Amino acid sequence: MLTVPDLQRRAKARLPRPIFDFIEGGAGDETSVLRNLQAWSHIRLMPRVLSLGSHRSLDTDFLGHRYGAPFGVAPMGLGRLAWPDTDEELVRAALAANIPYGLSTAGSISIERVAELASGNAWFQIYVSTEPRISTNLMARARSAGIDTLIVTVDANNPGHRLRDLRNRFSLPFRPTPSVVAEFMLHPQWSLKTLRAGSPRMANLDAAASSSQDRMSLAGLLKDMAGASLDWAVLDTIRNNWPGKLIVKGVLHPGDAKRMTSLGVDAISVSNHGGRQLGSAVSPIEVLPEIRAAVGAAYPLLLDSGVRSGEDIAKALALGANFVLLGRPFLFAAAAMGGAAGGPRVIEILTSELASSLAQLGCASPGELNSSFVYFNHGAQAAHISP
Ligand SMILES: Cc1cc2nc3c(=O)[nH]c(=O)nc-3n(C[C@H](O)[C@H](O)[C@H](O)COP(=O)(O)O)c2cc1C
Repeated sequence: MLTVPDLQRRAKARLPRPIFDFIEGGAGDETSVLRNLQAWSHIRLMPRVLSLGSHRSLDTDFLGHRYGAPFGVAPMGLGRLAWPDTDEELVRAALAANIPYGLSTAGSISIERVAELASGNAWFQIYVSTEPRISTNLMARARSAGIDTLIVTVDANNPGHRLRDLRNRFSLPFRPTPSVVAEFMLHPQWSLKTLRAGSPRMANLDAAASSSQDRMSLAGLLKDMAGASLDWAVLDTIRNNWPGKLIVKGVLHPGDAKRMTSLGVDAISVSNHGGRQLGSAVSPIEVLPEIRAAVGAAYPLLLDSGVRSGEDIAKALALGANFVLLGRPFLFAAAAMGGAAGGPRVIEILTSELASSLAQLGCASPGELNSSFVYFNHGAQAAHISP
């Protein structure tokens, strides 16, 4: 297992098809998923030589913390689908590497348990509910558990139209259709472990769902979010009520990004939700330079969607991101090797690839990357100007 695609291939072999599809798939015709992956190959880097000293480090200051690397685990619902120990082990791996772990509202581990395991490295992501009581309660729990960074996801006001899930009739709790049962039987290791551990649940919504059994299911959560009217006023209220750091995730338009900076949002995550919401959404890496221009040089920006290597991370940082999140690679790793081995392995792969890319570029640390390392076809322009 030398690369993230190696882990992905292994995960595909170990998971029942509907589970792998739920993790890998995206919205509509999945153009956006594909573009997220392909966009990196169009970016070319220009190394600098002879100036790299012997002191090299991946340490990165972001939102008041010094992390061990400029990337972290994106919030993902139902991580235990990948392997039953996924969430706990990813939190442990993130802490050991000193990188942040993003816990989703739909996560299969409780806020309190994550906070206890993560010791300051956890961020909590919130999906705003139609019932303000539920969102307020989740934020209060995160706060009293000692979590200081809240991510508000703003690109999921409607469930993504995910054709793979519809075709597989994917639902939770599992619906035992003949094809689902056949897939489970063909993947006995996953099935037995999952059976023993119990079907994954949205651990943070169980308590809040006293009024509605439905909200505990995946379909229930999606229905609930679709009804929520998350707008600028609600975001403003969240900002006023959350005393810690606030990240808004799911911004793709430079105009929205600029407006957010004046609301007191501490950082924006440029993301298309890994292509899971809008089939033809622009890829974050394509729009990043425009967003950087809109928010100014000093404003903290994260990027996620389609990052699959340390070299991708270097490209995102060179084009204006301060920090990067990855989603699927962590679930692929957990499915491929089990959470306890997979989490550390994927972090090791990404950090060693990033360290190698930085050294090749002549950068001693991630903070040295900037757009001067990106080849923008100056040669062709110069040839055009002076024939
Ligand atoms: C299985 C899965 C579940 C996800 N659940 C959530 C979620 O609950 N909240 C959220 O804000 N984003 C969620 N995301 C999106 C990720 O946070 C992130 O934006 C995306 O995975 C990044 O793209 P990548 O997977 O290509 O790295 C989910 C992504 C996946 C793959």
